[in-house]
Amino acid sequence: MRAVPVTDGIWWVGVIDWGLRDFHGYETPRGSTYNAYLVRGESTWALIDTVKTAFVPELLSRVADVIDPAEVGLIVVNHVEPDHNSGLRGVMAAMPSARVVASATGVKGVAEYHDGLVVEAVAPDVAIDLGGRTLRFMPAPMVHWPDSMLTYCPEVRVLMPNDAFGQHLASSGRFADEVGVDLAIEELGIYYANILMPVHAQVAKMVDKITEAGWEPEVIAPSHGVIWRGDALAAAYQAYERWTSGVKRDKAVVAYSTMWGSTKMLAEAVVDGITAAGVEVGLYDLAVTSGAKVTYELLEAKALVLGSPTLHHGMLYRVAGFIQYIEGLKPVDRMAAFFGSFGWGGGAVKQMRERVTAIGLEAPLEDFSEKFKPTSDDLTAAEAWGRQIGEAVKARA
Ligand code: FEO
Repeated sequence: MRAVPVTDGIWWVGVIDWGLRDFHGYETPRGSTYNAYLVRGESTWALIDTVKTAFVPELLSRVADVIDPAEVGLIVVNHVEPDHNSGLRGVMAAMPSARVVASATGVKGVAEYHDGLVVEAVAPDVAIDLGGRTLRFMPAPMVHWPDSMLTYCPEVRVLMPNDAFGQHLASSGRFADEVGVDLAIEELGIYYANILMPVHAQVAKMVDKITEAGWEPEVIAPSHGVIWRGDALAAAYQAYERWTSGVKRDKAVVAYSTMWGSTKMLAEAVVDGITAAGVEVGLYDLAVTSGAKVTYELLEAKALVLGSPTLHHGMLYRVAGFIQYIEGLKPVDRMAAFFGSFGWGGGAVKQMRERVTAIGLEAPLEDFSEKFKPTSDDLTAAEAWGRQIGEAVKARA
């Protein structure tokens, strides 16, 4: 794929990582992209963001589709996480006269990552003139690292917010309307749940600051996945509004792991009970469903219901791994409930309760435990317990 025009005088020159299947523990079955953008001014050119080291030759070849890389006069480092910053030295070598700017915190991050490399801090109230076209900058701390920064080109109303509005989605189309807005919004949500959920307040603040600054983007070009424009951009904005405000619906997520099928039988009965209460529910076996997918399902849900049999006095490692995964994502403001089978001595439900309530989820219902293989009476009781969960979900604001 060659450089792709985004709008007048701006090109996508990033790379598509079709094979990426894991992003620090977040499973990415659809791959990802590391987006970088080339901006043309009358007096110079700017490159917004770089890519992972291994992809630098590909980035440079796309820049060369448009302009000799040596003519680029400005490199903007919006974020120092290595997926965008590890290739910086290689890119700088091909753009020897380029000034390199980052947020004040980003300057420190670049030096720390690149063995003392010195770049220039750009103040939020400064505009860099490329000749008839300017770039403006806005720090967006903790969206999702302290150094994160947004870049905006007001003349063409293009916002390049790095990870914000990103999705891990590799595709031949560069725009959300080309790959299908529903797919793009789903991946936006998976990304939000797995990366941005713990910083939702900072994301909300970032969106407010964009408005307060009078920036009215017609195009949002993030550093991962597809680019938003037109109706797709409006849909992405609305989705962010919903998620940052914490809106939830009457929905429960049941996730479990099983040894010999008893906890699976209980899980299905619990789902029947939740359904009978008129509440939407999804059932996920953690042996075959990624933690990222379950976390996404939790994004607009009011309840997390976890099931595990007892093994060596505790929960199965897949359930423990999932709890560890969401610990940092802090899906608080939800209720939790715990169930599981045991052979001769319990322990799993107690351990799940301790770990999950420590994160901050409420657990108002009694746990549901059952010995060995569930009888039909046990399954009836599990269904009744599921119904209680459904009623509790409906009672929650
Ligand atoms: Fe895509 Fe926070 O890096």
